[in-house]
Amino acid sequence: MDSAIDIGLARPDEAPVIAAQSRELIEHGLDWRWTPGRLRRAIASNDTNVAAARFDGQLVGFGVMQYLDEEAHLCLLAVLPGWQRRGVGARLVRWLEAAALEAGIGVIRLEARRRNAVARAFYRRLGYEEIMLSTGYYAPHEDAVRFAKDLWLAPPALPPA
Ligand SMILES: CC(C)(COP(=O)(O)OP(=O)(O)OC[C@H]1O[C@@H](n2cnc3c(N)ncnc32)[C@H](O)[C@@H]1OP(=O)(O)O)[C@@H](O)C(=O)NCCC(=O)NCCS
Repeated sequence: MDSAIDIGLARPDEAPVIAAQSRELIEHGLDWRWTPGRLRRAIASNDTNVAAARFDGQLVGFGVMQYLDEEAHLCLLAVLPGWQRRGVGARLVRWLEAAALEAGIGVIRLEARRRNAVARAFYRRLGYEEIMLSTGYYAPHEDAVRFAKDLWLAPPALPPA
């Protein structure tokens, strides 16, 4: 666990780097949906939290969660390659889960590519359940696995930092 990593809300000037990393780490091979403009709007929006993990002021990971009426949707999550497997992803999820609970929301949903074995192992480790397969969700040959977690029932993502 990297205690020198800070997690907080992303700033508007971080939108371009988050968008570029989303394109490379998450949206590769698909249409680019999380453009700098969309990220800027998400950062400004009341119903979305864009979380940034930073080391020495530099972005090392990010997560985007949208809050709906009774549940939240984890839209994006990535940790830069040199920073993976050091607990940053789990801390980002825990931070976003805490924000959801504070907003009175207990159910989180998300999708991951069916072929993304790392993400699937990661979310299962954090207490998310694979509830459904969505054929062709991302593209004709790119299926998704849908996950959900009820924060009122499930234990926290991992032990506190
Ligand atoms: C998925 C991702 C966000 C995980 O972030 P991370 O900071 O590396 O994950 P953590 O270090 O917090 O891992 C927490 C647990 O998840 C599991 N996990 C994480 N990476 C794993 C891997 N490569 N293989 C197997 N299990 C893994 C482990 O159980 C790990 O706990 P442990 O290290 O104590 O064994 C990161 O791999 C990533 O950015 N991938 C590219 C983008 C992506 O696929 N995003 C998700 C879909 S939108």
